[in-house]
Amino acid sequence: MCGIVGAAARRDIVPVLLEGLRRLEYRGYDSCGVAVIDGGTMRRIVSVSRVADLGARIQSEATHGSTGIAHTRWATHGAPATQNAHPLVSRDEIALVHNGIIENYEELRAELRRAGYEFAGETDTEVVAHLIHSVYRGRLVEAVRQAVKRLKGAYAIAVVATREAGRVVGARSGSPLVVGIGEREFFLASDALALAGATDRVAYLEDGDIAEVSDEGWTVQDAQGRPAAREVRKVQAGAANVELGPYRHFMQKEIFEQPRAVSDTLEGVLGIAPELFGNDARAVLERADSVLILACGTSYYAGLVARQWVETLAGLPCSVEIASEYRYRDSVPNPRTLVVLVSQSGETADTLAALRHAQSLGQQATLAICNVATSSMMRMTRLRYLTHAGVEVGVASTKAFTTQLVALFLLALTLAKLRNRLTEEKEKTYLHQLRHLPAALGAVLALEPQVIAWSERFAKKSHALFLGRGLHYPIALEGALKLKEISYIHAEAYPAGELKHGPLALVTEEMPVVTVAPNDALLEKLKSNMQEVRARGGELYVFADADTQISPSLGVNVIRLPEHYGLLSPILHVVPLQLLAYHAALSRGTDVDKPRNLAKSVTVE
Ligand code: M6R
Repeated sequence: MCGIVGAAARRDIVPVLLEGLRRLEYRGYDSCGVAVIDGGTMRRIVSVSRVADLGARIQSEATHGSTGIAHTRWATHGAPATQNAHPLVSRDEIALVHNGIIENYEELRAELRRAGYEFAGETDTEVVAHLIHSVYRGRLVEAVRQAVKRLKGAYAIAVVATREAGRVVGARSGSPLVVGIGEREFFLASDALALAGATDRVAYLEDGDIAEVSDEGWTVQDAQGRPAAREVRKVQAGAANVELGPYRHFMQKEIFEQPRAVSDTLEGVLGIAPELFGNDARAVLERADSVLILACGTSYYAGLVARQWVETLAGLPCSVEIASEYRYRDSVPNPRTLVVLVSQSGETADTLAALRHAQSLGQQATLAICNVATSSMMRMTRLRYLTHAGVEVGVASTKAFTTQLVALFLLALTLAKLRNRLTEEKEKTYLHQLRHLPAALGAVLALEPQVIAWSERFAKKSHALFLGRGLHYPIALEGALKLKEISYIHAEAYPAGELKHGPLALVTEEMPVVTVAPNDALLEKLKSNMQEVRARGGELYVFADADTQISPSLGVNVIRLPEHYGLLSPILHVVPLQLLAYHAALSRGTDVDKPRNLAKSVTVE
């Protein structure tokens, strides 16, 4: 999704801007650009291809400058086209990059047209550039302050003015923006990661803030226009974290990193205690009489698994909602409900909005389970648990999912313990199982060659069905999402018992049916569902625990996982589905890490 970098320094900042964009590439984008002020003139260069292409253009035009802004754009309003790529410029005097969506842009555009402004493209952003220009009287920060008062919606912007070389102004409301602090050079970025090559010291701006950076320093004013101090933090966004190493794709690397990611997420977990979720977690968790999990995409599926853990282990009612639905429906708030937000990035607009909505309804018992310590989400909730998956670059979430599951399992155990439903012996057993997970994951990853053999057949298909039951129905959902997301094969998941209520009509010999078959209490029921598929000629691809007694036969392909892993089995069963999607996508030659139309972090509604 869109990314911002801005810099003011005493050296050529073009390499810094390009490096920042390169670091933001993983978020997904369809155009990119820079605007640099050099010797009193503004140079705008954009590309509807990759950052590498932008770099080549910049080089061929020998563009340099000590002040500039840059952007990766993921199209919302207006196609990915040169005229819509950011930076957007107003009358060669103001250039602006923007993340978010301006909701009242049509009204502003009509007003600005009446004032004589011409619009080159279709974006909502262009109005902001012209709006700032219309009130600009030689002090950019003042013009930005006036202009943003007119904006409705979400934004993070960085702006430069030709007449004010050496200065970049940023503002945020609803979209993240940080100030990067260097030695006589200062930066703006939508994500601290973008600045990893330039500085590891950043200050997170708050909603309503306007920041001004130059080669001499930085200042912030708050929403009321008062000078504001924002804490400077050291971030760990080391370059090594985002290197590909010996792998072909980040998704592949991240699948194989799961044993390490799980073990890091469990580091420091010596026993089950509320303090795992924050120092004042005990009071909050003790008071909870129910749990509401809010998330999107893969994180939502982690929530669906957790619902069963919370109800089974802790005996607490637990509901799970897609964040973008929850935020717009009338719900009945319960101040004793623990609201759990699950997110890899901690910046997903829908999930953040759902959190704000829950808080506005008086639900203050909030917990973030998130992979980015410095994200907006981690700063907004009362309690938090950081998953230590490490930077996840591939758009398709893999290690973030398994580490979310680990954190959610710890939460279920903690709630159980507080409600006297976890004996010491059971606690020991679960902790032992958790600690053994990295080794168990290693054993599942060793199945890759068998999965590759299947994936070649999958690559030729147009559709696939995924079946699971109970705890593993969400795993079937996740397997189908992975496959469609990166291989573009249409895939749907069903709880296996639902098959006969409709989807069975789709089953023919052309339809591969992937079945998640752990040796749990529902195994016999699942076997009956598999018979329903075979009776219609459907070909089964079964991921079965070794002790299920499911054997290969005509139309039944089986890959055996190690022994059944009890309640933690979903964490193992998802891995071959990730591998299947990855290898099917490889065979089809798709862009695995950056699938079409998708972004890593969905920071707009
Ligand atoms: O960063 P988040 O976990 O909040 O992101 C939520 C979804 O956008 C994300 O899980 C998405 O579904 C992934 N592309 C799935 O692989």
